[in-house]
Amino acid sequence: MFRASRTSATVWIVLLAVIAGLSYVLIGAAIPPASAQPQARAEVVEFTLDGKLKQPVGYRKWVHVGTPLTPKELNDDEVSEFHAVYMDPASFDHYEKTGKLRDGTVMIKEFASVGSKEAASGKGYFMGEFTGLEASIKDSKRFKDEPGNWAYFNFGKYPLKAEVSKEAVDSCNSCHQENAKTDWVFSQYYAVLRAAAPRSK
Ligand code: HEC
Repeated sequence: MFRASRTSATVWIVLLAVIAGLSYVLIGAAIPPASAQPQARAEVVEFTLDGKLKQPVGYRKWVHVGTPLTPKELNDDEVSEFHAVYMDPASFDHYEKTGKLRDGTVMIKEFASVGSKEAASGKGYFMGEFTGLEASIKDSKRFKDEPGNWAYFNFGKYPLKAEVSKEAVDSCNSCHQENAKTDWVFSQYYAVLRAAAPRSK
């Protein structure tokens, strides 16, 4: 009796070891190591099968490079707007090292209204609600025919569109090409980018 149960315990241990080993092999095969993944360019955003950009997520945790403000009083506009601009972290790392915008850079411009014009710190423009979202992406494969390989996307005002096609070159790209300091990006207005660029630049 004692012998029998000991034998079956051994059998169980061997069986469990085999199962554990098998699952390790199977899971390993199902999830390829990171290095085996295809080298995506703008890997922080997603596109639909027909090439539309899905509304980006998580960008408020990226590198916030600056927030230009366009007050209506200075512009004859109907509303004053903050433009909070973000760059994806891996591209920011590259920019810090080289002063260049790498293939795959994603820029986000998030609009916000002016809420209060007075705070404990004084009179001014204090951020209200989020109002709109735009993005630009440099990708030499996906956007090989766009000037500078930059494509521009406008998700409109709230409620934002879930996915959008790229805008015509004349609507967005041309103004950036003509006026932006660094490769279609308005680095001249982003103190964080100016400070991050290598000194030799
Ligand atoms: C008449 C010029 C002009 C046009 C047209 C224009 N932009 Fe811009 N854009 C700017 C300026 C200036 C800035 C930086 C200052 C600011 O935020 O106002 C900027 C900043 C941006 C940024 C932040 C990254 C960067 O390149 O500096 C994004 C993203 C962006 N624009 C998207 C768009 C989209 C999408 C369109 C078309 C729907 C568009 N822009 C059309 C002038 C323009």
